[in-house]
Amino acid sequence: MNKDNLLKEAKRVLLDNFQPEGFTIPCKGLYPFQWKWDSGFIAIGLAHFDIEKAKSEIDSLLKSQWGNGFIPHIVFHNDSDTYFPGPDFHHTYLHPEASKKYKSSGITQPPVIGFVLEELYRLAEDKDDILCFIESRIDSVYKNHHYFYSHRDPFDEGLVYIYHNWESGTDNSPMWDHIWETMDPPDYDFERKDTTHVDASQRPTKREYDHYIHIIEIAKSCNYDDRLIAERSPFLVYDPLFNAMLLKSNESLIKLYGIIGDQYEKVEQLEKWQEKSKKSFNDKLFDHNLNAYIHYDIRNSKPIPLISSSSFTPLFAGIPNKEKAVKLIQTLQERFGGENSYLCASFDPTEERFNPKKYWRGPVWINLNWIIYRGLKRYGFDEMAERLKNETIELIDKEGFKEYFDPRKETYKNQGHGGYGGNDFSWSAALIIDLLNQ
Ligand code: DGY
Repeated sequence: MNKDNLLKEAKRVLLDNFQPEGFTIPCKGLYPFQWKWDSGFIAIGLAHFDIEKAKSEIDSLLKSQWGNGFIPHIVFHNDSDTYFPGPDFHHTYLHPEASKKYKSSGITQPPVIGFVLEELYRLAEDKDDILCFIESRIDSVYKNHHYFYSHRDPFDEGLVYIYHNWESGTDNSPMWDHIWETMDPPDYDFERKDTTHVDASQRPTKREYDHYIHIIEIAKSCNYDDRLIAERSPFLVYDPLFNAMLLKSNESLIKLYGIIGDQYEKVEQLEKWQEKSKKSFNDKLFDHNLNAYIHYDIRNSKPIPLISSSSFTPLFAGIPNKEKAVKLIQTLQERFGGENSYLCASFDPTEERFNPKKYWRGPVWINLNWIIYRGLKRYGFDEMAERLKNETIELIDKEGFKEYFDPRKETYKNQGHGGYGGNDFSWSAALIIDLLNQ
């Protein structure tokens, strides 16, 4: 397809998935509500052709914010019975500051909204209008960051924990396998919906879902109190992707407050968080043997020495110094960048547990490619950035706006296709619009 047709198709996907309530579903059937980080990436795509829809995307998410600053990973604005666990599962009314108006989950997702606001500022033609919009929403995002540093950083390290694999965004990554081994959840009786939309071999297993549900049951038994969750959740992790998104968003808030002016206290606070977080990030999450950023399992007090696409996302937030960045790129090239592979597999292809077809255990994801692309550009690795961009466009052009893609080039020759998961997936469309316009 030529560039114009690809852009036209991407626009069609976003408009088809846009809902009357003013937000965009990630994908029909499979994900029929509003998802937090999806909405962020979707807003970037929308901003290229309909800034009002991009604003509405952000607004419908921020409306669901809790009194303590928390922003949930799913907001149930609308009715649908095609997804489990749906609106009646999470019982967020247990938390005294949860939104009374909007049903939601009680877990969150990577904090992308800060840098998305900066992207909207970059893309909007009418800078006065977008600045006015940002000015009236930015404090909600600041409050969300304040929530993370005051509720999710129990050791005052400048690193914030996630307590559920769904908070990482990389749901069934092999990162979590050893954590599942420390748990023995009940064999819950529930009706999965995802495997009615997508081949079960491309989704997490029933036993994995038992673990996912169990952690939420524990959080409910804590009334979603973060302090109790930090004591009791069997899953408690510093995730490099999650923390890198927070740092990148801090940086964007600093820039945007600078443009707005007169916000010295908030800027000073953001700079303090930023300095402390960057230091801890490099001290605690960089593995000098693997030459990559890795996850840290707080509950079991040990690093998780495995590499995933999340390992490269700190480039986007300017976290490594030049020397570390060079090492990181070598790791990317050696393990993920062979000539028979599309960049960037979601899990280390040299590891035994790499599975090129199964959700976050190997396939390429467009949002991670976009984040890494921007990181490579930031550090001047232009050749690698160009390769990543071209391969991302090639995959979408070949396969359509699929949810994820087999990183092995041979698959496309042998089986004729390699795109998996949902069809017409919104962030695949949104970020292709952005990449095609770079
Ligand atoms: C899912 O259902 O797979 C989602 O990613 C969880 O938020």
